[in-house]
Amino acid sequence: MNHFIFIFSIITINLFLVNANTTVIIIGAGAAGIAAASLLAEHGISFVILEAEDRIGGRIFSTYFGESKVDLGAQWSHGEQNNTMYNLIKDLDLVKPSDFKKNLYYSAENFDKSFASDLYWLCKKIFLKEKPVEEMSVGSFIEKRFRERVEEKYGNDEKISKYVNEILITFMHDILVQRGALSWFDVSMLNDYDRLKGQAYLDWKGCGHGIILDVMMKRYPNLSEELPIAENIIFNKQVNKIRWDGPPSVQCTDGSEYFTSHIILTASLGVLKHNYRSLFHPVLPQSKIDAINSLGIASVFKVVLEFSNRWWDPQSFKTAALCWDTADLKLLHDEFPKGRMKNNQSWLENLCEFHALDKNPNMLVAWFTGEFVPDIELLPDSTIIEGIMHVLVKFFGRQYKVTKPVGLLRNNWNSNQHFRGVYSYETVESRKLNESAALILSKPLISRDGNLSLLFAGEATSPTHYATVHGAIESGYQEAQRIIQLSL
Ligand SMILES: Cc1cc2nc3c(=O)[nH]c(=O)nc-3n(C[C@H](O)[C@H](O)[C@H](O)COP(=O)(O)OP(=O)(O)OC[C@H]3O[C@@H](n4cnc5c(N)ncnc54)[C@H](O)[C@@H]3O)c2cc1C
Ligand SMILES: *[C@@H]1O[C@H](CO)[C@@H](O)[C@H](O)[C@H]1NC(C)=O
Ligand SMILES: *[C@@H]1O[C@H](CO)[C@@H](O)[C@H](O)[C@H]1NC(C)=O
Ligand SMILES: *[C@@H]1O[C@H](CO)[C@@H](O)[C@H](O)[C@H]1NC(C)=O
Ligand SMILES: *[C@@H]1O[C@H](CO)[C@@H](O)[C@H](O)[C@H]1NC(C)=O
Ligand SMILES: *[C@@H]1O[C@H](CO)[C@@H](O)[C@H](O)[C@H]1NC(C)=O
Ligand SMILES: *[C@@H]1O[C@H](CO)[C@@H](O)[C@H](O)[C@H]1NC(C)=O
Repeated sequence: MNHFIFIFSIITINLFLVNANTTVIIIGAGAAGIAAASLLAEHGISFVILEAEDRIGGRIFSTYFGESKVDLGAQWSHGEQNNTMYNLIKDLDLVKPSDFKKNLYYSAENFDKSFASDLYWLCKKIFLKEKPVEEMSVGSFIEKRFRERVEEKYGNDEKISKYVNEILITFMHDILVQRGALSWFDVSMLNDYDRLKGQAYLDWKGCGHGIILDVMMKRYPNLSEELPIAENIIFNKQVNKIRWDGPPSVQCTDGSEYFTSHIILTASLGVLKHNYRSLFHPVLPQSKIDAINSLGIASVFKVVLEFSNRWWDPQSFKTAALCWDTADLKLLHDEFPKGRMKNNQSWLENLCEFHALDKNPNMLVAWFTGEFVPDIELLPDSTIIEGIMHVLVKFFGRQYKVTKPVGLLRNNWNSNQHFRGVYSYETVESRKLNESAALILSKPLISRDGNLSLLFAGEATSPTHYATVHGAIESGYQEAQRIIQLSL
């Protein structure tokens, strides 16, 4: 009896869904997809969201770990003025300025802290204030200019050149965390990113970044005003064919097919890079392929660590950036040979900073960035915990009674085929195109009978706010608006 009802309900749900004849199909229930859906819902336009994962949020991923939520994906909100997302939440008391004080920690005991710190700020100042005259990678520009400026200011000897090399690695890690690249020679120094005024880093007060999804769906602050979105999301639906040059339709890996009038695709740039040859029927115009190939997306590896007690001082330990002594770096592989990478380098070289979470007093977030990230994702938890412990003792053991993490939470953004990276960046190549690559990517495709058949949203389609949640949300609104415009 129970079995019968169960099977029966599956069949009816499937029939209903496969035949769902909605005006719009949204691919992806991340920030861009939910934003588009909310606008369509408010205008009474029917839609279905097909989502490959079994949850909403995409690269927003807030989940309980201990007593509070932690963010495995997007964590901060950037800027207030003219920020579409901030406007949605500014009266809801959900965010506060982040206490983002960064301190440098050194692997060796005897080092000149104040000199290292002066060099670090000099490097940062060059990055923020100086511009190359022609397109150039951040790596090429900073390495050259920093060495020049240091020589002008301090001259050159063995000590200076050792510190310069060490600070360059530390600063490179800052850039790689920010851009999610594996090499700073991939990231272009000039860019169109628009830094919004107001607090550059806002923390979500313990509820995690995921609350923004509830705000867009109007489940928060007043659940009785909820928009009809959640019931129109179908999970575990991976789209693998998009037909756009006739009646628009999509096909999923489970064989199901959906027909519609407009498709909004929000999959990440990483997914597009990997799948554009087989996903689109007919193939994409060359300009789009050039934009997809030339923009960058790679990964960072973020691990939330739980300790049995807080062994660090919460007042001074906010963000601890690691600065390796050259000799210690050389030793690292021999001291901790597990999980060896190419040329016998240690993957621990890519561990660049720790930061404390004020709502999770016993937790630290560790960030890895650089060329080994795709391989680090494949290491087992036990190796990662042991490796991190090795580094914690090395950097903080002199000052604190470091204890071993008792738990770990991670998400493998690079190897997950629904993401294949964290956030997009401009490259020297993408800037050689005659137009903003993101703008090219954002242009809808019109079918041969003149219909607006395939629209592109998602963080990478934003020419000025890419790599952020607010950029993703704006892109979702913009594409939904194109469709709403048609029915006005
Ligand atoms: C570790 C990390 C830290 C970050 N930190 C910040 C931060 O502090 N501040 C900030 O502003 N931003 C941050 N970001 C970036 C931010 O999370 C993203 O820019 C934003 O969430 C992207 O939203 P989106 O809707 O464009 O894409 P996504 O969130 O990727 O949504 C796309 C959805 O499509 C689904 N999908 C993909 N392929 C298919 C398919 N074939 N069929 C069906 N569904 C599919 C995916 O599962 C996903 O749910 C961070 C991201 C990461 C990963
Ligand atoms: C969608 O609706 C149209 C007209 O209302 C109908 O002809 C068509 O068969 C429907 N398609 C599906 C898949 O239900
Ligand atoms: C605010 O953002 C919109 C859209 O992104 C832009 O057109 C406008 O110029 C911006 N205004 C300011 C003051 O920055
Ligand atoms: C919530 O929304 C409903 C419907 O709009 C309204 O009647 C109710 O007063 C709201 N509650 C609060 C606490 O604002
Ligand atoms: C294009 O749109 C028109 C109306 O806007 C519709 O009648 C026609 O069927 C559409 N063509 C396709 C191929 O979807
Ligand atoms: C790496 O280490 C192994 C032994 O641990 C050694 O045989 C090999 O030559 C090393 N390779 C390089 C490139 O240093
Ligand atoms: C860029 O080049 C393409 C193809 O040559 C052309 O269609 C497009 O109009 C150009 N865009 C600009 C802004 O010049």
